[in-house]
Amino acid sequence: MSGEGRRGSGLTLGIESSCDETAAAVVGVADGGGHRVLSNVVAGQYEIHAEYAGVVPELASRAHVEAILPVVREALAGAGVGLGMIDLIAVGHRPGLIGPLLVGVTAAKALSLTLGRPLVGVDHVRAHLYSGVMGEASTENVFPALGLVVSGGHTALFVVESWSRIRRLGSTIDDAVGEAFDKAATILGLPHPGGPNLDRLASSPGANDRAHEFPVSRLSRESLDFSFSGLKTAILYAVNGVPGPRGAPALPMTEPRRADLAASFRRAAVDAIMLKLDRAAERIGLASRGLVLTGGGVTANSLLRRRLTEWGRATGRDVRLPALSLCMDNAAMIAGLGAALYAAGRTDGMDLQADPSALTDDEVGV
Ligand code: KG4
Ligand code: ZN
Repeated sequence: MSGEGRRGSGLTLGIESSCDETAAAVVGVADGGGHRVLSNVVAGQYEIHAEYAGVVPELASRAHVEAILPVVREALAGAGVGLGMIDLIAVGHRPGLIGPLLVGVTAAKALSLTLGRPLVGVDHVRAHLYSGVMGEASTENVFPALGLVVSGGHTALFVVESWSRIRRLGSTIDDAVGEAFDKAATILGLPHPGGPNLDRLASSPGANDRAHEFPVSRLSRESLDFSFSGLKTAILYAVNGVPGPRGAPALPMTEPRRADLAASFRRAAVDAIMLKLDRAAERIGLASRGLVLTGGGVTANSLLRRRLTEWGRATGRDVRLPALSLCMDNAAMIAGLGAALYAAGRTDGMDLQADPSALTDDEVGV
């Protein structure tokens, strides 16, 4: 997006509430023309959902209602700006849980209406793809790009033709990879947050990622879809023993064994992602200097970051990784993509809908 295109959208307030994180951020324009994140506030709800082993939508909605205004206030204070200085309101309005989405969308509409500032609805998955290029003065020359989103709710590959034209190449047929990391962490007895804790244990000195041969799902030779349920079952059996007459009892868990299991699990999960990414790049004929946009919580994984960087170096492809602060759900990415869409001529009215569904395979947004 050119600096000139951003005129009139100096400060954007982003709001995100699609799942169990209430987030607000203020994003401005950097001297060179890219976005500058002035504040990025995220309020999690882990304690609220912990006893249910999953996000309870009704409880999430209520927690968003309580958190949304304090979080917006904190984001404004963190950026050192008042509400009156905001030029644009961007809100994640799809996909996600309908109740939580409604809280963010309603707050954003109320702010837009009362401040007399334009409103832009942003697709959460596209915002993850945008998070790796937030700081760049221009993102017009990045297309067509290959996109990879790996998070707790999504695991998918895309062809990104522009910020509003995105075609899905494949996605998980069962669990998202972040969900698999979280389940594996629980099976290994690690505390919340599961994914980051498993990553840390897998990186501990002496952890052997070849100790266990966990399955790397390929699906068919052509498939660009992912599957992580087999891997999840494999670690469950490795820890608790294999059930049935031909099963095997559980081995005693020791700290070195736990670290080996974590490292072997992480390697298999990352191998599966890299396999499909490489396959997708070949499939779409991505140029050797072609751009690869990545995003989502699992792009914080240290092994995945290393492997993506090495793959980029080996193939000549230009892999963009989000800053660590922008991998997990956040409102800065919503504000950034919202500002980019606004600069390209997009605004939404008071009829903007919270929409739980993901864009379909070939849906073209505005
Ligand atoms: O993007 P995100 O905040 O939420 C969704 O849009 O789903 O992603 C959260 C997911 C969680 O499953 C979390 O465990 C995972 O990202 N995650 C990680 C790491 N950091 C976060 N998984 C593996 N390794 C990490 N370092
Ligand atoms: Zn997300």
